Amino acid sequence: MKIAVLTGGGDCPGLNAVIRAVVRRGEQHGLEVMGVHEGWRGLMDPPLHDRLTREATSGILHLGGTILGTSRTNPFKKPGGSEMVIKNLKGLNVGAVVAIGGEDTLGVATKLSTMGVNVVGVPKTIDNDLSGTDLTFGFDTAVQIATEAIDRLHSTAESHNRVIVCEVMGRHAGWIATHSGIAGGADVILIPEKPIEIENVCEHIQRRHRSRGVNFSIVVVAEGAKLGGSEARIAEKLDEFGHIRLGGIGQQIAELIEKKTGFETRSTVLGHIQRGGSPTAFDRVLGTRFGVHAADMVARGEWARMAALRGNEIVSVPLAEATAKLKTVPPEFFAVAEVFFG
Ligand code: F6P
Repeated sequence: MKIAVLTGGGDCPGLNAVIRAVVRRGEQHGLEVMGVHEGWRGLMDPPLHDRLTREATSGILHLGGTILGTSRTNPFKKPGGSEMVIKNLKGLNVGAVVAIGGEDTLGVATKLSTMGVNVVGVPKTIDNDLSGTDLTFGFDTAVQIATEAIDRLHSTAESHNRVIVCEVMGRHAGWIATHSGIAGGADVILIPEKPIEIENVCEHIQRRHRSRGVNFSIVVVAEGAKLGGSEARIAEKLDEFGHIRLGGIGQQIAELIEKKTGFETRSTVLGHIQRGGSPTAFDRVLGTRFGVHAADMVARGEWARMAALRGNEIVSVPLAEATAKLKTVPPEFFAVAEVFFG
């Protein structure tokens, strides 16, 4: 059978590890693997693809980004778009699609599967907000990068007696903020799951400075954290999945902290640095396990399901379950971070 593999949505460290594993395991199952370029865009007109072989995917395990390219194309947003995808898959003689993506890419996969397309999903996102899996690949790398940045911000904050607000990614969920904040010893962490109460933030900082006799603090804020009921936006224009471009909450918080406490405050936005570059060893292994498992699922004809991590096992879960709702940070886990506030 010929299968297609594609990567959609924001890029993510570990994508190439998954692609390589799907190809290597796929070939062992006698599958012919076609790489689709630029996510779902590559299955619309004109289709963009090439053959993926062991040779073509050799030497990519450690590389960031995706050799296939990616896009936020939503076939369901274009008139006749999903029918075009199905027609192209038939025309290319593709029997199944391995879709590597987050809520949007796998949401499209879920819908296509109800229209008769054989799909297997692989959970990707640095945000770690997909349900059905304990972890997505790429998250560990993003947390590592953010933690290293927080360590660096600590030394400059301390030297200058400043508060520094570090804005990390996390559109709907504060997984990166919570993990990197705990690992980096943040004094306050702000996440989308909990509306920001600026008076509390200032109280934590003032108490810390008073009781510990220090004049520096680190605040970690997820880009999607809400102040006064709404997120900070860079642009109002929606992408094809209905998302606005977030950004700027760190600066807003920094200005308020300085105004209310009198402490000199700066903000830093980590942005796409969290997504770029080499995956950690953990993400290379997780991506490889997901890819091998996805190829096995294809060989078994396990359609409309996603490879997932449960405990230390890779299992398969219904795609519909994985995309039904986002996985947010549970209050009991966030409570561990809160122990260290102030
Ligand atoms: O991949 C998810 C994510 O990292 C979100 O946290 C963030 O809002 C979004 O991607 C930004 O992606 P882009 O700049 O590619 O639109």
